[in-house]
Amino acid sequence: MNMKPFLPCLTLGLVFLGACGLEKPPASLKFPEEKKEAAASAPAAPAAAPAAEKAPADPKLAAGKAVYDTNCAACHEAGMMGAPKPGDKAAWSARIPQGVETMSKKSITGFQGKVGAMPPKGGNASLTDEAIGNAVAFMVDKSK
Ligand code: HEC
Repeated sequence: MNMKPFLPCLTLGLVFLGACGLEKPPASLKFPEEKKEAAASAPAAPAAAPAAEKAPADPKLAAGKAVYDTNCAACHEAGMMGAPKPGDKAAWSARIPQGVETMSKKSITGFQGKVGAMPPKGGNASLTDEAIGNAVAFMVDKSK
């Protein structure tokens, strides 16, 4: 075994502790302040996030969910002004028999219902009729 490369290390090792192959200086050499900083800058453990809702497998419903999340959830997820919440079967059971197509048309034009006003396209005129149809299909699918 050729010891030559180790010779400078062995010689200097006495002076520069840890310079030869030790990745970190020994813990005893660390300043206490350094340790504290390291602890403070450590990322906080992520709070237990609620399990993200999975996108539906059906591409039409998945597209509808995306439209719903950004354009409709503000009212419908909160039941704002009586907006029926997807998944609230009681709120949807009287509406679903109209059919997705009729409900989509009403959502496109907007309507004044018994409990509140549903704005045309949920207030986003740039949404296509198809996007609205997908969102309604998604809401209905969750509420059956
Ligand atoms: C500003 C609040 C608001 C937004 C945003 C909104 N809705 Fe509504 N929506 C309502 C309210 C209120 C009702 C209930 C009206 C009633 O029946 O009295 C309703 C009802 C509905 C219904 C039931 C229709 C029926 O015939 O019973 C559908 C479907 C619907 N909304 C789809 C959507 C879609 C799709 C979007 C997003 C593109 C959307 N809504 C965004 C307030 C909103």
